[in-house]
Amino acid sequence: MTQHQNHNQSNADNGSDTAIALGKGLDVGTANLAAAVQNDEGGITVTVERNAFLDIPSDVYSKNMLTKLKVPYIVHNNKLVVIGEAAFELANVFGRETRRPMSDGLISPNEQDALPMMKLIISKILGEPRVPGENCYFCVPAPSLDVDNNVVYHQGLFESLINKMGFTAHAINEAHAVIFAELAENDFTGIGLSFGGGMANACIAYKSIPCLSFSVARGGDWIDKNVANVLGCPRSKATHIKERGIDIRDPKSREEEAVAIYYRSLINYVLQNIKSRFESGQNMPSFNAPVDIACAGGTSMVGGFIEVFREEFAKIDFPIPVGRIFRSEEALTAVAKGCLVAAAIGEG
Ligand SMILES: Nc1ncnc2c1ncn2[C@@H]1O[C@H](COP(=O)(O)OP(=O)(O)OP(=O)(O)O)[C@@H](O)[C@H]1O
Ligand SMILES: [Mg+2]
Repeated sequence: MTQHQNHNQSNADNGSDTAIALGKGLDVGTANLAAAVQNDEGGITVTVERNAFLDIPSDVYSKNMLTKLKVPYIVHNNKLVVIGEAAFELANVFGRETRRPMSDGLISPNEQDALPMMKLIISKILGEPRVPGENCYFCVPAPSLDVDNNVVYHQGLFESLINKMGFTAHAINEAHAVIFAELAENDFTGIGLSFGGGMANACIAYKSIPCLSFSVARGGDWIDKNVANVLGCPRSKATHIKERGIDIRDPKSREEEAVAIYYRSLINYVLQNIKSRFESGQNMPSFNAPVDIACAGGTSMVGGFIEVFREEFAKIDFPIPVGRIFRSEEALTAVAKGCLVAAAIGEG
């Protein structure tokens, strides 16, 4: 999937009329990988692929089948491997589950082929560096409040993978990237939230400098898992119910009600944690003017998300004056775009 977006970020312009600004943005996500690059019309092109693969025994029958279906594959460890969106579609057709290189926001410890598979997908969407050592800003989650996870190892792996592809890798916090994508007009001051597949990430920044960031290991997968548990159905069914265009303000069935309950719980949990972390944090800047809250990530795309967010926000005594609460117009690609903006202005 490739999206073309208009982009009016003056900072992203290198001042020249013809040259395309160098630097690429990469969103390394549990569900999706997305690469952002400036295009020759001065806008941004974002290419998204599912972070998933499917391996099939390497026999003549399977090869013929993939060729007939026109599904591209590669051979890895004597197996036929299909990556990205194609893997997802093929798995649906054959009632199989795709294998996923990441879980809960980080490289999966249970998936031996995780790194080589992600390398394939990342090369596909990122392409070659246009000059040796071109900057590539990629996002990493903040350490989690609720699980003991190792962000340092994850970051180190991707830094070296991206460097080996000929880029110069720079890590940037995922929710900080949302601030770069959405809060340029506020001088990069405000709250960025990324509701992803494996995690929710939060960052508060003052004039582009992050003063608080954290993640919780709850996102779309967490909603799916819990909905599947309470309904006694497979997770893929729960995902389908969630993504089929429901409105969490107005659930129409027992299934939709379950999705709505976990959404509200997730939003409340993130807000409560921002509040308590901000109140207990030291050297927090005093925000005298109201700050905006920008939400992004695939999980924020459900109908009624922002309205429920505002309802939950109104219930708690938030420690900072808040102005606008909004969802990114390009919720799925905002993080990749933010990484590109960071590359353009040399932050991180
Ligand atoms: N229309 C939709 N409604 C509700 N949820 C959606 C919709 N589209 C995608 N999602 C959910 O969004 C999630 C993926 O979002 P995203 O691509 O932002 O995650 P990610 O960046 O890969 O993960 P993470 O940041 O946690 O590592 C999945 O859980 C998916 O089910
Ligand atoms: Mg993400």
